[in-house]
Amino acid sequence: MLISKLKLQNWRNFKKIEVELRERVFVIGPNASGKSNLLDVFRFLRDVAQPQGGGLQRAVAARGGMTKLRCLLARRDPEVLIEVELSDRADTPPIWRYTLAFGGKQRVVVTREKVVDLRTDTVILERPNNEDRSDPERLTETNLEQVNTNKNFRAIAQFFGSLTYLHLLPQLLKHTELGATAMLEGDPFGQSFLERIAKTADRTREARLKKIEAALQACVPNMRNLKFARDANTGAPHLEALYEHWRPDAGWQREDQLSDGTLRLLGIMWSLLDGDSLLLLEEPELSLSESIVRQIPALLWKMQRTAKHRRQVFVTTHSEALLEHTSVDPRDVVRLEPSSNGTHAATATAQEKALVAAGYSVAEAMVKVRSSGQLEQLSIF
Ligand SMILES: Nc1ncnc2c1ncn2[C@@H]1O[C@H](COP(=O)(O)OP(=O)(O)OP(=O)(O)O)[C@@H](O)[C@H]1O
Ligand SMILES: [Mg+2]
Repeated sequence: MLISKLKLQNWRNFKKIEVELRERVFVIGPNASGKSNLLDVFRFLRDVAQPQGGGLQRAVAARGGMTKLRCLLARRDPEVLIEVELSDRADTPPIWRYTLAFGGKQRVVVTREKVVDLRTDTVILERPNNEDRSDPERLTETNLEQVNTNKNFRAIAQFFGSLTYLHLLPQLLKHTELGATAMLEGDPFGQSFLERIAKTADRTREARLKKIEAALQACVPNMRNLKFARDANTGAPHLEALYEHWRPDAGWQREDQLSDGTLRLLGIMWSLLDGDSLLLLEEPELSLSESIVRQIPALLWKMQRTAKHRRQVFVTTHSEALLEHTSVDPRDVVRLEPSSNGTHAATATAQEKALVAAGYSVAEAMVKVRSSGQLEQLSIF
């Protein structure tokens, strides 16, 4: 499944936005324009839907409460609204619409929760309902978070419950002693990456490493082989790569000897093959040279195509090089534009699409042209 449409009201720095989304979404915009806040909508839905220890109250509390979450530009205390449409595949019409609105101050309450099966245009759930009216306490929980109330739309809960958010920090992976005490839920910084690889069934792991190896060889010079190994003494899991040097005795290197960039690429590619829900990637360009960044869209594409389940990928980026690849479609880009009335989410204009059709890259058509005209406001680099 993938999210084909997102609507937000009063979510952090977004007062009101509505965007259509595709299988790959490149979220661009200046610092503090709300790229991470946009990804946080999906992490929030994950936190709400999570089968263990999730729920609306915890998800809001984890973000500092309603006063932090609700858009500061909104007058009075309006409800925060999140609405998503979900499609089975990129090229098929949406099948679900899930709407969640909530408000309150100290105590968070659901003001609206609605599920529509768009195939048959049937309303599966609409709250507040009679049960809520007779027992308002029920409105402190969503139906999404409860197994006994989400039975008819559990696919939505499972989809959100299993998304991945990655902001890979190679240092934490190399120096496990740093990470041990600071593990966060969902492992956003990739600290348990090696553990995840270790837990994967042998054959699946082999097959995935082969795919990654093939893709990596295109951008990491001299790397010939990638394999999983356990330390003979401690049993600790390791990744090893064989490098071909001019020296005949060039050998295997472990992850702590691999470059930060190689490790980040490894983590990103593994995540694309592992799991079937959304993948949220923060700034994959970090610690990578521009020539490799240029290859990221192609790598993502290759991995998406070869994965057992195709994951929708959201990528936040500051990199123009990342948008240069010919496989980037102007419709894949969501450009965040801050204004005095909250951040707007813009998609490609007809003119920008025409420029790309005429042979310009998305970077040229959607970033360079714009920033040369409106440098102060919109330059993202
Ligand atoms: N409730 C809120 N109302 C209005 N603005 C908010 C709210 N919560 C956070 N913000 C603003 O959102 C901005 C941060 O957005 P975010 O971290 O998503 O930016 P970003 O685009 O990811 O930036 P970077 O490129 O630096 O990572 C801050 O300026 C912060 O003040
Ligand atoms: Mg950010």
